[in-house]
Amino acid sequence: MTTLLKNGSEDILIEDGVISAVGDDTEIAASYVDKVIDCTGLTIFPGICDMHVHLRDPGQTHKEDLISGARAAAAGGVTAIMCMPNTTPPIDTPEAVRDIVERSKGLPVKVYPCAAITKGLLGKELSDFQALKDAGAIAVSDDGMPVADSSLMMEAMILADKAGLKVISHCEDLKIADTRISENLMVSREICLSENLRLPVHIAHVSTKEAIGYIKMAKRRQTNVTCEVTPHHFTFTNDKLLKQDADYLMNPPLRGADDVNAIIIGLYNGTVNCIASDHAPHSATEKADFNTAPNGVIGLETMLAATLRLYHTAKIPTLDKVVELLCVNPRKILGIPGGNLKVGSPADLAIVDLNEFWVAQPESFQSKSKNSCFKGRTFKGKVKYTLLNGEVVYMGKDMV
Ligand code: DOR
Ligand code: ZN
Repeated sequence: MTTLLKNGSEDILIEDGVISAVGDDTEIAASYVDKVIDCTGLTIFPGICDMHVHLRDPGQTHKEDLISGARAAAAGGVTAIMCMPNTTPPIDTPEAVRDIVERSKGLPVKVYPCAAITKGLLGKELSDFQALKDAGAIAVSDDGMPVADSSLMMEAMILADKAGLKVISHCEDLKIADTRISENLMVSREICLSENLRLPVHIAHVSTKEAIGYIKMAKRRQTNVTCEVTPHHFTFTNDKLLKQDADYLMNPPLRGADDVNAIIIGLYNGTVNCIASDHAPHSATEKADFNTAPNGVIGLETMLAATLRLYHTAKIPTLDKVVELLCVNPRKILGIPGGNLKVGSPADLAIVDLNEFWVAQPESFQSKSKNSCFKGRTFKGKVKYTLLNGEVVYMGKDMV
């Protein structure tokens, strides 16, 4: 099977799921291909890699399951996801990891499991990292729950590195959870552990200007600390909470304008390695009551458009930088192949109209849950096609 993506300048030829030629019209003859996709006026990106996704499968599949989560990813131009282990039960055994790997085969997105640092996410006893790695996990995290015990986190960094797993830290001191110190303190601890042990750590969803500052300084000292930020934390400030709408509740919470600015500067100057959605589906019933609602917002279907807002307003200066933040760096951090348009790479692609306006309407999203804080927002930049191994796995309604 051969497919030609034709936009007149940088055409892409795909053979058997792999990019086999890149060039202009004169170089690639359309005559012998099975299928031509007209990409005139469109931009071809490598598929996004979202390294922070909660799929709720197993256990809470009324909120999301592997299939609906994969469809949401495809609709968002996302071709690789890392799924978090805070499912019911948590993904803390090789059997649980293998179950995800097996059931993800044939889905419209590549799924990479992140397993639990501690058994049952209880913060007491480490999981068997080598067994988790052998089963197919690529990282470990107690995301949603911090690892409070520093000696346990230290041990986790040492053993995860031995097993070839990345440690992803959700930085929060639960005893002072209502303060920004809660995040700042734990980010400092992870930097300290990583620097002293000379081992890598990845900080999830950084949300405060202080934490951005600590990571910036740590990077100047050549430490092995990486971090991600979410679209909601670089788009919204905490004044949204005045609406008492639970679709603006997440953990870490929305912060102030200074924090948003620090995150955006961090994206620009390299302090922040990548953008991840922290896609966290919750049911409408649970989100109905602001005072009891669980934390979390969906994000797979809006992450590209939310990032393109920063590009269109010149806060992210180039499309290359967009690609670095969404496609290249997450794969680099996790050791996942792809993320480029080079000959020989898997044809995992997002084909985008950078200038099309659209309104985010969660009712028409692929995700089973509708808790989007971007609901009603007008975006500029729309995914028209998503390809996985050269197959079209998503096509915008107007393209059918
Ligand atoms: O808002 C959040 N929701 N933050 C987390 O860390 C966990 C996530 C969830 O699982 O719902
Ligand atoms: Zn988290």
